[in-house]
Amino acid sequence: MASGGNRWRADCLGVRDGVACRAMLMILKAVHVTSVLLTFVSFSVRGAWMLSGSQMLERAWVKVAPHVIDTILLISAIGLMIQIRQYPGSHAWLTAKLVALVLYIVFGSISLRRGRTKAIRVTSGIAALVVFFYIVAVAVTHSPLPFVRTT
Ligand code: HEM
Repeated sequence: MASGGNRWRADCLGVRDGVACRAMLMILKAVHVTSVLLTFVSFSVRGAWMLSGSQMLERAWVKVAPHVIDTILLISAIGLMIQIRQYPGSHAWLTAKLVALVLYIVFGSISLRRGRTKAIRVTSGIAALVVFFYIVAVAVTHSPLPFVRTT
């Protein structure tokens, strides 16, 4: 793992590696991973509703909830980056995550909203899921090439 040694090196208001700092990191990660799970469930359920032509997609809360989840996901990601002192642009795995997140959003919006035919929507939905699992693999390995052995 590229930066395994940094796993517990956190920075909380200048107090490094203290108990409170570790607790903060664990809480932020729990919030981040929970919002990751929720975004996955939300995307899958809306995909199923899209395929079945359900009117549920028109409900206000169904339109708002994904934005709330994604905002929490991004805020927790920013908190985690500050704590582990790693950022897109200087750490390749985080650059890869950010670029992949943009792809996930683009494929997701084609799948749920913009795709003109069902075939385009299904193909984009599958592409979004592939990108999603790539992001998870990048997060777990801290590598932009999670499926490539480097040793
Ligand atoms: C759909 C989008 C995302 C998914 C599926 C995702 C997934 C994950 C997962 C599963 C973890 C836990 C990894 C572990 O503990 O082994 C994680 C941690 C993390 N993620 Fe995300 N993430 C996403 C978006 C982002 C974004 C956009 C950023 C910032 C550019 C980000 C930054 C981080 C950081 C800094 C950690 C902590 C890594 C550590 O402490 O070792 N994530 N992410």
